Amino acid sequence: TANTMWGGRFAAGPDAIMEAINASIGFDQRLAAQDIAGSRAHAAMLAAQGIITDKDAEAIREGLLTVLSEIETGEFPFSTALEDIHMNVEARLKEIVGEPAGRLHTARSRNDQVAVDFRLWVRDQCDAVDTALKALIEALIGQAEQGADWVMPGFTHLQTAQPVTWGHHMMAYVEMFARDRSRFADARRRMNLSPLGAAALAGTSFLIDRHATAEALGFDGPMPNSLDAVSDRDFALEFLAASSICAMHMSRLAEELVIWSSAQFRFVKMSDRWSTGSSIMPQKRNPDAAELIRAKIGRIFGANVALMTVMKGLPLTYSKDMQEDKEQVFDAADNLMLAFAALTGMVGDMSAQPENLKIAAASGFSTATDLADWLVRELGLPFRDAHHVTGSLVALAEGKGVDLPDLSLDDIQSVHAEITEAVFEVLGVENSVASRTSFGGTAPSEVRKQIAAWKEHLG
Ligand code: ARG
Repeated sequence: TANTMWGGRFAAGPDAIMEAINASIGFDQRLAAQDIAGSRAHAAMLAAQGIITDKDAEAIREGLLTVLSEIETGEFPFSTALEDIHMNVEARLKEIVGEPAGRLHTARSRNDQVAVDFRLWVRDQCDAVDTALKALIEALIGQAEQGADWVMPGFTHLQTAQPVTWGHHMMAYVEMFARDRSRFADARRRMNLSPLGAAALAGTSFLIDRHATAEALGFDGPMPNSLDAVSDRDFALEFLAASSICAMHMSRLAEELVIWSSAQFRFVKMSDRWSTGSSIMPQKRNPDAAELIRAKIGRIFGANVALMTVMKGLPLTYSKDMQEDKEQVFDAADNLMLAFAALTGMVGDMSAQPENLKIAAASGFSTATDLADWLVRELGLPFRDAHHVTGSLVALAEGKGVDLPDLSLDDIQSVHAEITEAVFEVLGVENSVASRTSFGGTAPSEVRKQIAAWKEHLG
């Protein structure tokens, strides 16, 4: 039989496959609370403007609350024939309150309805992400505080570069995740305008008050162009773009945890709660959660690319293609949230191994730059010459199978006669990191300043 919402024009109902490809209720039921909030704001506004009676608005309000509680308790009869959440809610409202339900859709279309619902959902998700990112940042700061002066190797090309501090390394991620927070905050601020009242696309001849519905739903105001209001999915794309960058950051930390927890590195020990065993190899402690976080970027980035691709080349205004926006965002958001929870748990629980960090920091000629800097400062060598002399000393040490601090003064002077005993002071890793007091540098004194600044900022 023909659809009750638009059946007037149709003699027959849709083909079963038509119904299957068309229906979004399987996933957009996640917008139920937002849909009902939007309808309540719309109905209240229609009454305030004298477009429907107060009595009808009251019936609609009561009925929507009943629908909401049915959905919350799981007794709501979702129907694929009713296509999406908007029509499911409205049809059920009609069953509950009768005729007034038919007045709710005055001066509204599913085009502005879905736009407002989805915006509200993504906006809520930005808030959830913000809370989760704050918790992750706090876990990292906890690690940084504990190991502000633990020395570890800093890497470039995954080759030992210069000694750094554990605290400094943790705080590097704090900077990244803080930028992610501000990206989500930016996106939230830009998306916080209401499409409701754009109707199908052109606006409406009813004397509606879009400012009132915008305010009721916590928006900063209505979107100024009704065509744009029903066409725009930038807000979802910004969420996915910010999610992609954030997931990329998480994948880098996750990868470091995988490397650091290996038997070859032993920089960190993951807690039992965040390790898995092997069914055959009894000795194993596998970092599965870190690996999965590392992999989550795949689907999150995929969602971003998928929605970009859906939207590209779409003529204004609404096209049904846009129904494909929601699953991408839901999947990306769910996996992002799961990754936050797992990473925060792992970071909070892991124990860095300061002894192993220090041994690693001292190997691989990590203080070669300190030596070159010493030659510049104490002997007045141009940096390029100092670099060359140091390179020869590294080659000498490598040939002898020792690290730089293990060379004798005689050995050292065989390369450059003016070098004195005092050079040994800069060859130790503790002195190396302590000396790097430039703003943002790795010296424990600097790192403690960075920690204090972030703690104050976070309150
Ligand atoms: N389920 C639709 C979506 O998610 C709602 C909007 C439908 N509008 C329309 N004109 N068919 O996009």
